[in-house]
Amino acid sequence: MSIFEIIKDQVRDVKKIVFVTGAGISHESGIPTFRGKKGLWRNYDAMKLATIGAFYENPRLIWEWHNERRRNIFAAQPNQGHKAIAKLEEYVDVVVLTQNIDGLHQKAGSTEVLELHGNITKIKCSVCEFRDEVLSEFSEVPPLCDCGNILRPDAVWFGESLQRDIWQKAIFAASECDLMIIVGTSLVVSPANMLPIYAKQNDAILIEINPEKTEMSFEMDFTIRNTSAFVLPKFISIFKRE
Ligand code: APR
Repeated sequence: MSIFEIIKDQVRDVKKIVFVTGAGISHESGIPTFRGKKGLWRNYDAMKLATIGAFYENPRLIWEWHNERRRNIFAAQPNQGHKAIAKLEEYVDVVVLTQNIDGLHQKAGSTEVLELHGNITKIKCSVCEFRDEVLSEFSEVPPLCDCGNILRPDAVWFGESLQRDIWQKAIFAASECDLMIIVGTSLVVSPANMLPIYAKQNDAILIEINPEKTEMSFEMDFTIRNTSAFVLPKFISIFKRE
């Protein structure tokens, strides 16, 4: 019996599925992960590139690095993993809670996506309330707000809180689902790594799709050790109603 057949038996009556996704799901779209052998944080110092302190110290450096990521992300297309999750909406209620800022779930067609860490297109003023979305390249960095202060990427950096309403909706979705599928995240970053706990409190089934073992693999009901673009298209066929 294959793992898919075993899972199929268990998830027959599932009504609400929540996906928790991380950098790994976009890896096969050409976007690097943060941790692991070729992860960004192996070659770059997160504390010098993804904290508010680092931003105030050298906003130009942070913007130059951010611009490079923007170019990479804008050139990327959703892969079979993102597409499979979007397709699943045809069969069952799906909410995607993503730590990614690349927008690829929405590009693939998912309609219920909560971006826990923001989006690469978004900017905000480091002082006033100004927020905007920018798709074109910044010719000068750091860009300035009309109020005269520096604009910053509207992404959640280390040490910062998640946007409150988004986090509350994420907790709600996790606490209500009967199946949580955790894809391509090392689950080392808080508070996103608490979402499986909320799901478990609702007796949800937890499934991890990741080629590597994670900090929370031992909490899972099933683990599938392969890449998401390979696994997810096969996986969603389980839910196809004949
Ligand atoms: N398919 C599925 N999983 C994969 C694939 C793949 N093709 N390739 C890699 N992975 C897995 C890795 O094994 C790893 O467990 O994806 C995970 C990526 O982990 P991280 O790089 O830590 O990414 P993530 O968990 O999203 O990081 C959380 O950290 O720096 C911050 O803000 C950043 O949102 C990010 C947060």
